[in-house]
Amino acid sequence: MNTAFIPRRIAQLEPFITTTAGRLLDGLELRSDVDVISDFAAPLTFRMICAILGVPPALDDAGTRDTLMATIAPSPDHDPLRVDEALHTLLDTLIGAKRTGSALGGSDLLGALVRASDECGAMSEEELRSTAYLLLLVGHDTTMNLIGNGTLALLQHPGQAALLSAPDPDPHLVTTAVEELLRYDSPVRDATFRCAAETITLHGQRVAAGDIVSLLIGSANRDEDVFPDADRLDLTRTPNDHLAFGYGPHFCIGAALARLEGILALPLLLRRLGPITLAKPADELTWRPTRVMRGLAALPVLRT
Ligand code: HEM
Repeated sequence: MNTAFIPRRIAQLEPFITTTAGRLLDGLELRSDVDVISDFAAPLTFRMICAILGVPPALDDAGTRDTLMATIAPSPDHDPLRVDEALHTLLDTLIGAKRTGSALGGSDLLGALVRASDECGAMSEEELRSTAYLLLLVGHDTTMNLIGNGTLALLQHPGQAALLSAPDPDPHLVTTAVEELLRYDSPVRDATFRCAAETITLHGQRVAAGDIVSLLIGSANRDEDVFPDADRLDLTRTPNDHLAFGYGPHFCIGAALARLEGILALPLLLRRLGPITLAKPADELTWRPTRVMRGLAALPVLRT
């Protein structure tokens, strides 16, 4: 899986990301009100992971996204059994299409995973299904949150936003800006649970072998001992050793993709739609009720 996401391969996606983002923005230019999440961040990031995985165009849509999202943000409108059924149908259709279609011989990631499962038994059927689900979900939900949380932070700091929305922003600044937005309002709030392998004491807190530990990325990224003036958004902040993509052997495999999408999409969004303002006060925005992710359900903005 890692080879599909190495920076050299991801860099080749630059024209595709820019064109896709540009087309989405073309459709928004005549509107006075826009939801940055459903009109831009969600379709853009989903299209990218679908392209890498080789999801047939018919399944690259809001219905598929809703099915995936329902699995992590349960709501009273969603019957858990139905959500489960819809997810199984989706995975059957996707994996089935790779097994029967000509795409099986192609170079996309899902085709390669199916081959790894069918031809050399590198993955069980269950592992294949859960990996396809994981990639489809985290391959877009996370980056969608980077664009959503990042845009919100910029709208709340117009002076900083102006640095990015200039007609030809300094590429170095765009890079440090994306790192700072990842730190300031981290798209993944908590890492997956860990189980302590041995007893240790950390900052006076004893963690016994076998204890379940939850790592709070959002909190670590505002650690005053590491980040001077940690609650301040500073798009030029360097160094910026944030933990938004995790750390160690489980460091995010999609980091290069997410960074490139942020670097290309955020300045383009501000430039093409701008000037924009929040359509409602920030404290009235709805955050999706998930444990691990931190992302807005909608980010309505007005074009002024
Ligand atoms: C801004 C976007 C993203 C953020 C903030 C993010 C964050 C993270 C974090 C914090 C982890 C480590 C979790 C842990 O240690 O418990 C992780 C792992 C992972 N991420 Fe991302 N991610 C992003 C985008 C993506 C994308 C686009 C993909 C696409 C495939 C992806 C795939 C993965 C996978 C497969 C892992 C598990 C790696 C392993 O366990 O070895 N992520 N991500």
